[in-house]
Amino acid sequence: MSIAIRNLGRIFSINQTDLEAIRDINLDVGDAEILSIVGTSGCGKSTLLKIISGLDRATGGDVSIDGHTIQGPSKKEVGIIFQEPRLFPWSNVEKNIEFGLSAKLTKAERRKMIQEHVELVGLKGFEKALPSQLSGGMKQRVSLARSLINRPRALLLDEPFGALDAFTKISMQREVLRIWEKEKMTMILVTHDIDEALYLGDRVVVMNSKPGRIKNIIPIKLPRPRDRTSTDFSYLRKKVYEEFFEIEGIPADYII
Ligand SMILES: Nc1ncnc2c1ncn2[C@@H]1O[C@H](COP(=O)(O)OP(=O)(O)OP(=O)(O)O)[C@@H](O)[C@H]1O
Ligand SMILES: [Mg+2]
Repeated sequence: MSIAIRNLGRIFSINQTDLEAIRDINLDVGDAEILSIVGTSGCGKSTLLKIISGLDRATGGDVSIDGHTIQGPSKKEVGIIFQEPRLFPWSNVEKNIEFGLSAKLTKAERRKMIQEHVELVGLKGFEKALPSQLSGGMKQRVSLARSLINRPRALLLDEPFGALDAFTKISMQREVLRIWEKEKMTMILVTHDIDEALYLGDRVVVMNSKPGRIKNIIPIKLPRPRDRTSTDFSYLRKKVYEEFFEIEGIPADYII
């Protein structure tokens, strides 16, 4: 599934004052591509993802998916994962995953799909657990399964692992990569974590803020799975940091 973003803009109105969140965003995301987006807090990343998902409307420009301009949310075609898991606290793991299932299926088919997705995200044995009985990483796995159960052809991730510790985060990134290798869906990953952007993305988009615009796009041509400790990876990490230094006006020889 390919996504074309054309001259996209979003102006919010707060107490009759206009706030331009994003301006003139142009991007083409190819089928099965993983596009990472990084930028400082408030630069309009979530706004951009919400418009692509159809949850919010642009005030200028448009987004088309496989050539069709989007008109509203589509749970089946485009999945979205938010920063916080957004699970129903009173429902167990299975029920939360089932909530994402929009297809009309028989009871047996539903059960099979749910079980497959419980296993896909490594939660076998926790089917009956409530969200309060799960760790943060496990809860995010449930949201991942809930988004994946409709086999979306595009997945939008808004800082999905921001609240997790470094090790859990790394294992979730590997998990996402494993699922992507199997499903080859198009992914847009918004993150604060430069290593995460580099580990997963085919390209890393760096955004400017106030209003949010694209500053630069850095292609990541390293083979997967990527070695975060390699020289090539470190070189690209430095390039992304340099983009931020430019935005913030920090001298290029600032020690990382
Ligand atoms: N519904 C809304 N109404 C009014 N203003 C909004 C709304 N949503 C976002 N904004 C404003 O748009 C700007 C961009 O917000 P957005 O949430 O897209 O930033 P972000 O890049 O996702 O930040 P963060 O990294 O902190 O999540 C902010 O100035 C915010 O106040
Ligand atoms: Mg955000």
